[in-house]
Amino acid sequence: MLQTLTKVTPEVLAAMETVKHHRKTKEVFLEFSLGSQFDHLIKSGIEQTGRHVLMADPARITAEDVKKIQPLGIILSGGPASVYQDPPPFDGRIFDLGIPVLGICLGFQLWAQYIGVGVESAQKREFGIHTLKILRPSSRLFAGIERETPVLESHGDIVLPSPKLHVIAKTDNCPVAAAKHKHLWGVQFHPETTPTKYGLEILENFCSKICGAKIRYPAHDVAKEKIQVLRERIGERKVLLALSGGSDSSTVAYLLKHAFEGRSGQLRAVYLKGIDRPDDEAHVFKYFGNQDWLELKIVDATRQFLRALRGKRTGRQKRLAMRKVYKTLLEREIRLWRAKLIAQGTLYTDIVESGGGYRTGARRATIKIHHNPRLRFSVPKLEPLADCFKDTARALGREIGVPDELLFRHPFPGPGLLVRIAGEVRRKKLTIAREADRIFIEELRRWNLYHMTWQAGAVVTRDVVTCTKGDDAALGWVIALWAVNSKDGFTATAVDLPYEFWQHVDRRMVNEIREVGATVTRNTNKPPGTIEWE
Ligand code: XMP
Repeated sequence: MLQTLTKVTPEVLAAMETVKHHRKTKEVFLEFSLGSQFDHLIKSGIEQTGRHVLMADPARITAEDVKKIQPLGIILSGGPASVYQDPPPFDGRIFDLGIPVLGICLGFQLWAQYIGVGVESAQKREFGIHTLKILRPSSRLFAGIERETPVLESHGDIVLPSPKLHVIAKTDNCPVAAAKHKHLWGVQFHPETTPTKYGLEILENFCSKICGAKIRYPAHDVAKEKIQVLRERIGERKVLLALSGGSDSSTVAYLLKHAFEGRSGQLRAVYLKGIDRPDDEAHVFKYFGNQDWLELKIVDATRQFLRALRGKRTGRQKRLAMRKVYKTLLEREIRLWRAKLIAQGTLYTDIVESGGGYRTGARRATIKIHHNPRLRFSVPKLEPLADCFKDTARALGREIGVPDELLFRHPFPGPGLLVRIAGEVRRKKLTIAREADRIFIEELRRWNLYHMTWQAGAVVTRDVVTCTKGDDAALGWVIALWAVNSKDGFTATAVDLPYEFWQHVDRRMVNEIREVGATVTRNTNKPPGTIEWE
């Protein structure tokens, strides 16, 4: 459950005390989400070091509320707005409380403007990896960090130099990349993202060296807490699990296994086949086919998916069509099994990229519609990984005994191969996409590159090329191949694979798949691209 603090009543304070007591700490941090798609990355990054962070709604939590909570420190995320246009709601008096603040990007600009420092709208939006040059190595924020280090910048506005600011770092395109004013600290880059090499260290320095945090909550207790919450929510009710065999739904299966403490008869997993990878079904069967704690049901939905996808050409139309089939079929299974709850492996990434996430008064941007979130079922949902990213979900899976083969398969999108088929999805193209995936993944494994890449995909594009197969000139589809490295799916970099590898894959694709005429590779990073094609 993603919870946002929207009011501070005696009941809320009492609930906070219970959590603090359970975590054996009095220390709490407040993060105000100003609408950034990275807000949960900040929370999760800080929590990975064992700190306790509450997400707060900047439109509702006032300076009086903050005084009642007494956080050790306050973090302000970035956001899509600007301090000039459509500024996020925030009670500026919070800056006067003397509590250390770390403002990230828009959060930095917000306090800078509050104390009278200029914020300038840059001509063009800066996006990319830059070198941070630390001007004050003795600064507590940068303790233990190399003097020159890569950081991710993403901003339209910048904070201007001012006598009120103690500038501690710069980049080539940003003279005030990090600064402080009394207890207010600010960075123009994003420490929460993977391209920022020492991002987690910077967040940790803020918590321990600036705010004085001391208590850590051990990682394995997080799994225990989730299992306990599931146990209490489920009680005696039956649960239907939407299982894809990927690491997320498999981890949910194992969380449920622990929650049921070996009891059988309460958990059924449904695997919907149709737009899946070639070896998915066998894989699911191998791990979940013969278990006494879970009953597996495989439903072949190929016909329904193909019918619903007929005539749908854009990613959005296809996702919506797929989502409808998915929902109808799962509803049917809920009825048949008389389930009272439905469990899914939704991650935070899925939610936030659909414009969801913590509910606050700040505006956030929608990137694309994913299929898992927002689906409403006739029974309540269990989404125990809604506060996890891919990497944190995997770490949790490891804690509770999910086999490595399940955890470390490449991620696969909920909407399946349809995001890897440009334009309309027809049976023939689905077969080509499956074959292309099989060859690509087989070769990645054979060249020992599978585990060196985070995710890879073969896309049947809209294009055809002329080719000469045998004596005939013919037309063949162009397959686009991509392989990326990532930590959490939020940002990704194209992997530099050997030329001989690409050549080999090309030869196999063109020779073994009759309808394929050529392959091309995609080398775009996320951002500015996305990982999937559509
Ligand atoms: P993008 O393409 O958004 O992908 O950069 C980020 C990660 O999410 C996966 N992905 C999806 N997962 N429903 C999902 O459940 C979707 O609609 C969807 N689209 C992308 C993608 O494979 C990558 O790992």
